[in-house]
Amino acid sequence: MSMFKTVRGMRDFLPKDAENLRYVEQVTRELADLYGYEEILTPIVESHELLAAKSGEEIRQRMYVFKDLGGRKVALRPEFTASVARLVATKLRNAPKPLKLFSVGSLYRYDEPQYGRFREFWQANYELMGSEKPEADAEILTVTNHLLKKLGLRNYYIKIGHVGILRGILSQEDIVEQQQNHVMQMLDKKSWDEALTTIKQLGASQQCLTTLKKVFETRGKATFGILKKTEKTVQKYESAVAAVQNLRQILTLATTGNKFETLIEPGFARGLEYYTGIIFEAYVPELEIALGGGGRYDKLIEQFGGEPTPAVGVAPGIDRIVLAMKKQKNQFRIRTENRAVVIPVNAEMKIKAFEISSMLREVMIPTELEVTGRTVSKALSDADRREITYAVLVGPEELAEGKVVLRNLITRKQKTVEIKELVKKLKATK
Ligand code: HAM
Repeated sequence: MSMFKTVRGMRDFLPKDAENLRYVEQVTRELADLYGYEEILTPIVESHELLAAKSGEEIRQRMYVFKDLGGRKVALRPEFTASVARLVATKLRNAPKPLKLFSVGSLYRYDEPQYGRFREFWQANYELMGSEKPEADAEILTVTNHLLKKLGLRNYYIKIGHVGILRGILSQEDIVEQQQNHVMQMLDKKSWDEALTTIKQLGASQQCLTTLKKVFETRGKATFGILKKTEKTVQKYESAVAAVQNLRQILTLATTGNKFETLIEPGFARGLEYYTGIIFEAYVPELEIALGGGGRYDKLIEQFGGEPTPAVGVAPGIDRIVLAMKKQKNQFRIRTENRAVVIPVNAEMKIKAFEISSMLREVMIPTELEVTGRTVSKALSDADRREITYAVLVGPEELAEGKVVLRNLITRKQKTVEIKELVKKLKATK
């Protein structure tokens, strides 16, 4: 039989990789708790119809779709939002609003594997449902900023747009939603010229084309200046003006008391089709790919048969956050507790070594037991390699006096200590 490999686009997480991923996951969960988002778990396998409904052409074509043994057409989830919206349309239909829901887990997209793009990847996901107010959008931006800051990322910025600007212009030009969706996919891929040609073919006016061209050219970090300029550019399009005003309200709230860099880009689009309001993505200068993305989607829950429920959310991409933290040489974990390894110096000492390691674990001192029967010096050099802080050497002479040798693997000093003193010594800081 040939040697097995992982399937293309799939990854194994060896201990260090797993530790990094779980560290970021843990911080996302801590933030969920801090902001009052309750965790839910939804299945990885959902009906294809649900996942395909509003995900947009791009993601639709990249779903893992198959028939299960019962003949149902199912897919592996490419994102969380559809599943959360399904819950709010069904089981949580009558739950008091606002609903603040958190999820974290693996997702599947048949993307072309490349740096930062995997077929199985991890997201955390925060959804705030039941408020159409700008403070809800501002909260989601605040959570996003807080997460990146808490993980120690530097120089990150949040690229922000509003689908109401482009859709407002296109609607007033009588371009129907389906055609708008098609144009938005082109814009998501930054194919501005192709989008303009298509819009022209759809019968848009010269005024529309001039306006859009200007919108596409406008972007910058001076938030309120860019918004003012955009408002002027789109002044002939009433609902586009309202969208700019909505962005201004959101950003006034989000940037008061929080400092984060923004890049306002009114012509920016995202692949997902369900957005109705603000859209955004987070970046660091070291990576070209987004660390996370989100936006407002006020129609999805009713499209799934639920009550009309305005909603806004964000999904930080855990894998890419890990990549960004590595690029910036950030710390993934600060280990402050001592870790011990208990080493019997000969076979007769095994039972006592077992006993001592159990005693240490009882009081929650991370403790390993030497289980291979190798020599003390080999066991010590292995403990060094694994950055264990203390070795407890169990030998007959010390044991006869109720003692063991405690060796500090960092300072390399050792002394004989009473077994009953051991806990106190190991609980002390390094
Ligand atoms: P999204 O932009 O498709 O949005 O994905 C969010 C993040 O997931 C991306 O910014 C990226 O970090 C990560 N991601 C996406 N695809 C891959 C991949 N192939 N490999 C590695 N990471 C990836 C959503 O999924 C929306 N559901 C976000 C949202 C929540 N909108 C409202 N609520």
